[in-house]
Amino acid sequence: MPTLLQFHASELPPGQCRAYVAGGMTVLVYNLANTFYATQGLCSHEDLPLDGGKFESNVIQCPFHDSRFNIRTGKVLSGPAEHGLKTFPVAVDGGTVTVTLL
Ligand code: FES
Repeated sequence: MPTLLQFHASELPPGQCRAYVAGGMTVLVYNLANTFYATQGLCSHEDLPLDGGKFESNVIQCPFHDSRFNIRTGKVLSGPAEHGLKTFPVAVDGGTVTVTLL
């Protein structure tokens, strides 16, 4: 059975992202114009937290060495990271955001 992360959508306003810990991992959840996305919370470059990085449009930029990732696909847009981020499915129902940690 997958681990679920749930919170109320009002916790995370549009244009913001926030780190949550669930199932023994850190997950970064993004509100992009009221559509929610989720990726692993640690950068694939050196496993440092992406939380606090610049989040703009559909891009998160690592605060440490500036790798940029597409938050929808997890793909690397610019290095030094060579590997993408794991992404997780997100559903919103009645104001509750549910991230399924596979
Ligand atoms: S730890 Fe993120 S770019 Fe280096």
